[in-house]
Amino acid sequence: MKNSFLRLGLLLCVLISLSYANDDNVVNVYSHRHYATDLQIFNLFTKETGIKVNLVQAKAKELIKRMQAEGSRTPADVLITVDAGNLATAKADGLLQAVHSKYLDKTVPSYLRDKDDEWFAITERARVTVIAKKNIGKIHIKYYEDLAKPKYKGMIMVRSSSNIYNQSLLAAMIAHHGKAYALKWAKGIVANMTRSPRGNDIYQVAAVGSGIGKIAIVNTYYVGKMSVSKNFTEQMAEEQSKVIFPRFKNGGTHVNISGIALIKYSKHRKNAIRFMKFLLSKEAQKLFAHKNFEYPVLKSVKSAKVVKGFGKFKRDTIPLALLGKYNKDAVEIFDTVGWR
Ligand SMILES: [Fe+2]
Repeated sequence: MKNSFLRLGLLLCVLISLSYANDDNVVNVYSHRHYATDLQIFNLFTKETGIKVNLVQAKAKELIKRMQAEGSRTPADVLITVDAGNLATAKADGLLQAVHSKYLDKTVPSYLRDKDDEWFAITERARVTVIAKKNIGKIHIKYYEDLAKPKYKGMIMVRSSSNIYNQSLLAAMIAHHGKAYALKWAKGIVANMTRSPRGNDIYQVAAVGSGIGKIAIVNTYYVGKMSVSKNFTEQMAEEQSKVIFPRFKNGGTHVNISGIALIKYSKHRKNAIRFMKFLLSKEAQKLFAHKNFEYPVLKSVKSAKVVKGFGKFKRDTIPLALLGKYNKDAVEIFDTVGWR
């Protein structure tokens, strides 16, 4: 009996140390991103470091709620979002911690990271308009503000307002012109819509291709993805479409980021920082740029050919944290003007 207790004790010790060993060699990732490219990058990271990546995917707002509920018991080591607004919210909620790393400091320019180094951009995307090539010269778009004018009546197609990309665009409008102006603008966009919002950004570009509407408001990387799509309609629509970079009258083209942050209660801090640096390595940045058609943050990596073909633009320079600050106002405005 005594012997079997001893054996059981030993076995427990081995099991506990084994599970600790496994626990130590992981990084737990809460991510809003949902791309095959990310999985490819995570696998590369595991191959190079031996650190296993455990992934939880959900909308950033849900992940933040979950971390608030989990408190110090959260398994999350890093948070990845598709916008700066939610990172700013997570910071304000005290869920993040600063990372002071020479590599991150020199790689991520100050306008692409939090002023206290609590979050960092990993990629950029511009929110632009797309028209059919046959309408070049017939439809002119210079400013986001103008899209609300009656001359674009019946032309505009855009996804639902529950999407963070639209919330951040409207938050940027608030940052530039104030809440009253942004409300009038959103009302004008709703009045100019071809149809009530539905589908994702690819769906809007495809509808421009098939002549349903004339102007799609979308993120650049979707257009890049369409160029290599196995879906013939999507590929044709991309071939026949032209990206136009609108800008704010007192600024540039709206750019949002995908970003990463270290969680305050991370149990694998070293692994997490290694993971953050890996996402900003040349290897990973190349994949983000060439497989997911995003703008790389690392200067030495070039954009994909199709993305370069969209042309150059001047990025808007409002601090990205404002997208978080005005998110609630933006959502309220969408509700008021009936942008579904
Ligand atoms: Fe997206």
